[in-house]
Amino acid sequence: MSNDGVNTGRRRFLVAATSVVGAAGAVGAAVPFVGSWFPSAKAKAAGAPVKVNISKIEPGQQIVAEWRGQPVFILSRTEEMLAGLPKLNAELADPDSKASEQPTYVNAQTRSSKPGILILVGLCTHLGCSPSFRPEVAPADLGAQWVGGYFCPCHGSRYDLAGRVYKSQPAPLNLPVPPHSYESADVVVLGVDQEKA
Ligand code: FES
Repeated sequence: MSNDGVNTGRRRFLVAATSVVGAAGAVGAAVPFVGSWFPSAKAKAAGAPVKVNISKIEPGQQIVAEWRGQPVFILSRTEEMLAGLPKLNAELADPDSKASEQPTYVNAQTRSSKPGILILVGLCTHLGCSPSFRPEVAPADLGAQWVGGYFCPCHGSRYDLAGRVYKSQPAPLNLPVPPHSYESADVVVLGVDQEKA
Protein backbone atom coordinates (compact mmCIF):
# COMPACT_ATOMS: atom_id res chain seq x y z
CA MET A 1 0.00 0.00 0.00
CA SER A 2 2.79 2.42 0.91
CA ASN A 3 4.61 1.77 -2.41
CA ASP A 4 1.43 2.53 -4.39
CA GLY A 5 1.12 5.84 -2.57
CA VAL A 6 4.69 6.83 -3.47
CA ASN A 7 4.27 5.86 -7.12
CA THR A 8 1.02 7.75 -7.45
CA GLY A 9 2.59 10.86 -6.00
CA ARG A 10 5.59 10.59 -8.31
CA ARG A 11 3.35 10.09 -11.33
CA ARG A 12 1.38 13.18 -10.43
CA PHE A 13 4.60 15.18 -10.12
CA LEU A 14 5.82 14.03 -13.56
CA VAL A 15 2.50 14.91 -15.20
CA ALA A 16 2.48 18.32 -13.55
CA ALA A 17 6.09 19.01 -14.58
CA THR A 18 5.36 18.03 -18.20
CA SER A 19 2.32 20.29 -18.25
CA VAL A 20 4.33 23.26 -17.02
CA VAL A 21 6.98 22.75 -19.68
CA GLY A 22 4.29 22.47 -22.35
CA ALA A 23 2.61 25.66 -21.17
CA ALA A 24 5.88 27.57 -21.04
CA GLY A 25 6.74 26.46 -24.58
CA ALA A 26 3.35 27.59 -25.87
CA VAL A 27 3.65 31.01 -24.23
CA GLY A 28 7.16 31.47 -25.56
CA ALA A 29 6.06 30.70 -29.12
CA ALA A 30 3.02 32.99 -28.90
CA VAL A 31 4.74 36.13 -27.63
CA PRO A 32 6.37 37.29 -30.90
CA PHE A 33 3.09 37.01 -32.79
CA VAL A 34 1.14 38.87 -30.13
CA GLY A 35 3.80 41.57 -30.24
CA SER A 36 3.43 42.07 -33.98
CA TRP A 37 -0.37 42.04 -33.93
CA PHE A 38 -0.67 44.61 -31.20
CA PRO A 39 2.09 47.26 -31.41
CA SER A 40 2.76 48.99 -28.13
CA ALA A 41 1.75 52.58 -27.47
CA LYS A 42 5.42 53.49 -27.69
CA ALA A 43 5.70 51.88 -31.14
CA LYS A 44 2.59 53.73 -32.32
CA ALA A 45 3.99 57.03 -31.08
CA ALA A 46 7.26 56.31 -32.89
CA GLY A 47 5.35 55.97 -36.18
CA ALA A 48 3.38 59.19 -35.74
CA PRO A 49 4.10 62.28 -37.88
CA VAL A 50 6.76 64.61 -36.51
CA LYS A 51 6.68 68.41 -36.92
CA VAL A 52 10.02 70.18 -37.24
CA ASN A 53 10.61 73.92 -37.21
CA ILE A 54 13.18 74.67 -39.90
CA SER A 55 13.28 78.46 -39.55
CA LYS A 56 16.55 78.46 -37.59
CA ILE A 57 18.60 76.35 -40.00
CA GLU A 58 21.31 78.55 -41.46
CA PRO A 59 22.06 78.21 -45.21
CA GLY A 60 24.59 75.43 -45.66
CA GLN A 61 23.75 73.79 -42.33
CA GLN A 62 21.65 70.80 -41.41
CA ILE A 63 19.75 69.58 -38.37
CA VAL A 64 18.93 65.98 -37.53
CA ALA A 65 15.36 65.15 -36.53
CA GLU A 66 13.99 61.76 -35.51
CA TRP A 67 11.09 60.02 -37.19
CA ARG A 68 10.10 56.39 -36.68
CA GLY A 69 13.27 55.89 -34.70
CA GLN A 70 15.41 56.93 -37.67
CA PRO A 71 17.60 60.01 -38.09
CA VAL A 72 16.22 62.45 -40.65
CA PHE A 73 18.62 64.99 -42.14
CA ILE A 74 17.17 68.41 -42.95
CA LEU A 75 19.67 70.52 -44.89
CA SER A 76 19.26 74.13 -45.96
CA ARG A 77 21.10 74.22 -49.28
CA THR A 78 22.79 77.33 -50.64
CA GLU A 79 22.55 78.47 -54.27
CA GLU A 80 26.09 77.16 -54.79
CA MET A 81 25.17 73.73 -53.45
CA LEU A 82 22.16 73.54 -55.79
CA ALA A 83 24.14 74.77 -58.78
CA GLY A 84 26.68 71.98 -58.32
CA LEU A 85 24.17 69.12 -58.44
CA PRO A 86 23.61 68.79 -62.22
CA LYS A 87 27.37 68.71 -62.85
CA LEU A 88 27.64 65.42 -60.96
CA ASN A 89 25.02 63.42 -62.86
CA ALA A 90 27.52 61.40 -64.95
CA GLU A 91 29.31 60.25 -61.78
CA LEU A 92 26.19 59.00 -59.97
CA ALA A 93 24.64 55.54 -59.85
CA ASP A 94 21.02 56.74 -59.99
CA PRO A 95 21.06 60.49 -60.77
CA ASP A 96 17.32 60.67 -61.46
CA SER A 97 16.37 58.45 -58.51
CA LYS A 98 14.55 56.00 -60.76
CA ALA A 99 15.38 53.03 -58.52
CA SER A 100 15.65 54.97 -55.27
CA GLU A 101 12.99 55.74 -52.71
CA GLN A 102 11.40 59.17 -52.86
CA PRO A 103 7.86 60.58 -53.07
CA THR A 104 6.47 61.56 -56.48
CA TYR A 105 6.19 65.24 -55.50
CA VAL A 106 9.95 65.47 -55.04
CA ASN A 107 12.14 66.72 -57.92
CA ALA A 108 14.17 63.83 -59.35
CA GLN A 109 17.53 65.62 -59.26
CA THR A 110 17.37 68.11 -56.38
CA ARG A 111 15.32 65.50 -54.51
CA SER A 112 13.22 68.08 -52.72
CA SER A 113 9.91 69.87 -53.19
CA LYS A 114 11.43 73.16 -52.02
CA PRO A 115 14.81 73.27 -53.79
CA GLY A 116 16.63 74.81 -50.84
CA ILE A 117 15.43 72.27 -48.27
CA LEU A 118 16.71 68.70 -48.54
CA ILE A 119 15.08 66.05 -46.35
CA LEU A 120 16.63 62.57 -46.19
CA VAL A 121 16.42 59.44 -44.07
CA GLY A 122 19.94 59.45 -42.64
CA LEU A 123 20.69 55.74 -43.03
CA CYS A 124 23.13 54.39 -45.59
CA THR A 125 21.49 52.12 -48.17
CA HIS A 126 24.36 49.64 -47.80
CA LEU A 127 24.05 48.34 -44.24
CA GLY A 128 22.32 51.17 -42.44
CA CYS A 129 25.06 53.26 -40.80
CA SER A 130 24.38 56.97 -40.52
CA PRO A 131 26.44 58.96 -43.06
CA SER A 132 28.30 62.09 -41.98
CA PHE A 133 27.40 65.49 -43.42
CA ARG A 134 30.58 66.73 -45.08
CA PRO A 135 29.82 70.02 -46.87
CA GLU A 136 33.41 71.20 -47.16
CA VAL A 137 35.26 71.08 -50.51
CA ALA A 138 38.38 68.88 -50.87
CA PRO A 139 39.06 68.05 -47.21
CA ALA A 140 42.27 66.09 -46.67
CA ASP A 141 40.57 62.83 -45.69
CA LEU A 142 38.13 62.76 -48.63
CA GLY A 143 40.41 64.00 -51.40
CA ALA A 144 40.65 66.78 -53.96
CA GLN A 145 37.61 65.60 -55.93
CA TRP A 146 35.21 65.94 -53.00
CA VAL A 147 32.71 68.76 -53.62
CA GLY A 148 30.60 68.29 -50.49
CA GLY A 149 28.07 65.64 -49.67
CA TYR A 150 27.52 62.73 -47.28
CA PHE A 151 30.16 60.17 -46.40
CA CYS A 152 29.39 56.87 -44.72
CA PRO A 153 32.10 56.05 -42.15
CA CYS A 154 31.35 52.32 -42.11
CA HIS A 155 32.46 51.25 -45.61
CA GLY A 156 33.07 54.55 -47.36
CA SER A 157 29.96 55.12 -49.50
CA ARG A 158 29.78 58.63 -50.92
CA TYR A 159 26.64 60.64 -51.66
CA ASP A 160 26.19 64.13 -53.09
CA LEU A 161 24.32 67.05 -51.53
CA ALA A 162 21.03 65.58 -52.76
CA GLY A 163 21.73 62.21 -51.09
CA ARG A 164 22.48 60.62 -54.48
CA VAL A 165 25.07 57.86 -54.32
CA TYR A 166 28.13 57.90 -56.56
CA LYS A 167 28.89 54.99 -58.88
CA SER A 168 30.86 51.96 -57.61
CA GLN A 169 30.09 52.43 -53.92
CA PRO A 170 29.06 49.73 -51.45
CA ALA A 171 25.67 51.48 -51.18
CA PRO A 172 23.44 50.63 -54.17
CA LEU A 173 20.83 53.40 -53.92
CA ASN A 174 20.35 57.05 -52.99
CA LEU A 175 19.43 57.98 -49.43
CA PRO A 176 15.63 57.74 -49.17
CA VAL A 177 13.48 60.87 -49.07
CA PRO A 178 10.76 60.31 -46.46
CA PRO A 179 7.14 61.40 -46.99
CA HIS A 180 6.77 64.99 -45.86
CA SER A 181 4.74 68.15 -46.29
CA TYR A 182 4.88 71.78 -45.25
CA GLU A 183 2.43 72.99 -42.66
CA SER A 184 3.81 76.51 -43.14
CA ALA A 185 6.97 78.11 -44.51
CA ASP A 186 8.71 77.28 -41.23
CA VAL A 187 7.25 73.91 -40.26
CA VAL A 188 7.74 70.63 -42.08
CA VAL A 189 5.73 67.53 -41.16
CA LEU A 190 7.62 64.25 -41.50
CA GLY A 191 5.43 61.23 -42.23
CA VAL A 192 2.55 63.03 -44.00
CA ASP A 193 2.59 63.20 -47.78
CA GLN A 194 2.20 66.54 -49.48
CA GLU A 195 -0.92 65.49 -51.45
CA LYS A 196 -2.71 64.32 -48.34
CA ALA A 197 -1.74 67.28 -46.15
S1 FES B 1 26.83 50.98 -44.22
FE1 FES B 1 27.40 52.73 -45.37
S2 FES B 1 28.92 52.00 -46.67
FE2 FES B 1 28.33 50.25 -45.58
